[in-house]
Amino acid sequence: MYKEGKCAFKTADLERLRSVNAPLLAWYHANARMLPWRENPRPYRVWVSEIMLQQTRIEAVKPYFDRFMAELPDIADLAFVEDDRLMKLWEGLGYYNRARNLKKAAEQIVMEYGGSMPPHYHQLVKLPGIGSYTAGAIASIAFGEAVPAVDGNVLRVLSRVLASREDILKQSTKKKIEGMLTETMPGQDAGSFNQGIMELGETVCVPNGKPRCEECPLQCLCLASQRGLTDEIPIKMPPKKRRYEERTVCILEYEEQVGIRKREAAGLLASLYELPNVEGHLKPEQLAEAFGLDPESVVSCEALPEAKHVFSHVEWHMKGYRIRMGKELPKAYIAAKKEELKTIYPLPNAFGRYTKLIK
Ligand code: ADE
Ligand code: SF4
Repeated sequence: MYKEGKCAFKTADLERLRSVNAPLLAWYHANARMLPWRENPRPYRVWVSEIMLQQTRIEAVKPYFDRFMAELPDIADLAFVEDDRLMKLWEGLGYYNRARNLKKAAEQIVMEYGGSMPPHYHQLVKLPGIGSYTAGAIASIAFGEAVPAVDGNVLRVLSRVLASREDILKQSTKKKIEGMLTETMPGQDAGSFNQGIMELGETVCVPNGKPRCEECPLQCLCLASQRGLTDEIPIKMPPKKRRYEERTVCILEYEEQVGIRKREAAGLLASLYELPNVEGHLKPEQLAEAFGLDPESVVSCEALPEAKHVFSHVEWHMKGYRIRMGKELPKAYIAAKKEELKTIYPLPNAFGRYTKLIK
């Protein structure tokens, strides 16, 4: 379906996106809300406003923005502000790392760029706290560079326009929309174009509740609206739930040896060594059979503390036992010396709670 190589996008999608430009710009110029950072889009003001707007609503941001600008009117003021003062200015906005990164980036701008915001996307995106969205917003709004600024609003509006069923929570979907917009967005007035889609997403093509398609300048080219798919699109897949798994792990000892195994070549912890473990929480009397041991040779069995390890798709809730054998370990196990566990047979962290208890 996709062409190979440089242009990996569907021609029909690109054409549809190009047809967004003119009606969107006209709508934005007629409907843009007057906001403090729009009246005076100095790069520093655009930057601070975009950072504040990342997790906070526009109306809530306004008073903070005005106070911040009154107190720290320039990048150098921000670079040299005391941390306590900065935190006080940010108090109530939350996500304080945003403020700490602002100051770090301001220090860097003073040192590397003589205190003026660098104008290009590729320079901005290297600064602390500035990702592809924020770099695109600053470069386009403050400097007119024709680069996209894709946030949640833009993803929602454009996946509806294209009736795209790609999951908008995926990084790859965002990259794809950024790539397409780079080809189709207008070369002039990029700041208005980017803010226009955001504004449309905030006021017309809204995230909660029905979009107001009758008022939308894109209705005649919007596939989700025409096909009645606005309830289904955009698609946001909730992150998969982790599987909860109970396991029993044993430290299997004979003289100075510890029994370990090598895991299968595929799947979780593939090809790594492990302490013997089985599914389920076993009672002491079930251990010999589960681990293939001759019950007559088991000298002692000691319960160890429980442990938990979280992988991305599964979490292990582990019970542990120390089993001492009076006879050589069965062939199914590798008999390792304790020092060898650090060198030839490293054990994954998942067993960390128990490897620490190997004597
Ligand atoms: N949300 C975040 N930044 C914005 C901007 N510049 N215009 C409209 N909505 C926004
Ligand atoms: Fe959103 Fe409706 Fe406009 Fe399509 S027509 S972009 S669904 S508001």
